[in-house]
Amino acid sequence: MDSNQVFKSKVVLITGGTGSFGKTFARRLLQEDQVQKVIIFSRDELKQWEMKDSEEIFNHPKIRYFLGDVRDKERLIRSFSEVDYVVHAAALKQVPAAEYNPTEFIKTNVQGAINVIDAAIAQGVEKVVALSSDKAVNPVNLYGATKLCSDKLFVAAESYVGHRSYPTFSVVRYGNVVGSRGSVLPYWKKLIKNGAKTLPLTDPRMTRFWITLDESVDLVFKALELSQGSEIFVPKIPSIKLTDLAEALLPGSTPEIIGIRPGEKLHELMISSDDARHTLEFDDHFLIYPEKYSQDSKKLSRLSSGKALEEGFSYTSENNPEWLSTEELKSYLGAK
Ligand SMILES: NC(=O)c1ccc[n+]([C@@H]2O[C@H](COP(=O)([O-])OP(=O)(O)OC[C@H]3O[C@@H](n4cnc5c(N)ncnc54)[C@H](OP(=O)(O)O)[C@@H]3O)[C@@H](O)[C@H]2O)c1
Repeated sequence: MDSNQVFKSKVVLITGGTGSFGKTFARRLLQEDQVQKVIIFSRDELKQWEMKDSEEIFNHPKIRYFLGDVRDKERLIRSFSEVDYVVHAAALKQVPAAEYNPTEFIKTNVQGAINVIDAAIAQGVEKVVALSSDKAVNPVNLYGATKLCSDKLFVAAESYVGHRSYPTFSVVRYGNVVGSRGSVLPYWKKLIKNGAKTLPLTDPRMTRFWITLDESVDLVFKALELSQGSEIFVPKIPSIKLTDLAEALLPGSTPEIIGIRPGEKLHELMISSDDARHTLEFDDHFLIYPEKYSQDSKKLSRLSSGKALEEGFSYTSENNPEWLSTEELKSYLGAK
């Protein structure tokens, strides 16, 4: 895809621009150099200063740093002035913290989503893409429930746009990013560095999807290019068995089984069988489209290259046809 053309002369604002996704996305936009301006929107001045100080590219003349909170609609409205694309990545996302502080997660992840939608409509933004999570599908924890609310808000948001055809709102959904903060890979690596001879594993049956930060950025580029509004983009990515990851990191050791934790699933679910009824399959992604597309022949016809899924289809890290072997994991880890 020629993302250069998609971003040519565009002003792009990233809520949560100092986070792992936001930095990778901003770096890629600035490297490709067609963008007019990149705005980083987040709360913490220290994280913004550290980002600016960490790499030359984050001092680029096209980058701006805005302090603001997605809970504050007035500030969002001010920040979205003359913005073409908004990528909404700001969120609270630690599962145990959500169980203990539900109101804070609701304020940031749900009220924040409402504010982003209202501000984008008020300022006539062209496109908004919001980041979701596998945890939003049949949620078993508060974090997932707030991401489900956020997804529903973005999918429904077009109804408030009126006669204009913009903003379009769409959602990008993926699972745990390899190596992201609090995930198993950095945790196990740290244990090994400190001399561990065996790794703690919640359940030997556990599987996960495997996506890198760069692949998640590719998916958002694609969503900004293709979105017509109200869709959920889901990438086709490989799965791993956690036992294979343990073997790749510490060959020959037997993991210590510690039991599944509260709010955790054995397998990640990205598309439920109910959503699969209005999902189309493309070469490298799935697209969950809203039921209302069925009455919109123009929108449906643009999706004509997609393949309908069989009744009962679901997309989980367990039933995924694509897997990374221990050897492939070893070579990935060796390259890092
Ligand atoms: N990482 C993963 O494995 C993963 C997987 C699937 C989906 N996602 C989704 O991807 C998105 C980005 O995740 P990430 O890994 O980049 O998260 P992250 O590294 O924790 O970054 C979160 C960002 O949001 C900002 N933020 C938090 N609360 C805010 C608020 N109230 N107002 C404005 N900014 C706020 C943070 O900066 P300040 O604290 O300075 O405000 C930071 O810039 C999230 O929506 C997450 O749910 C992540």
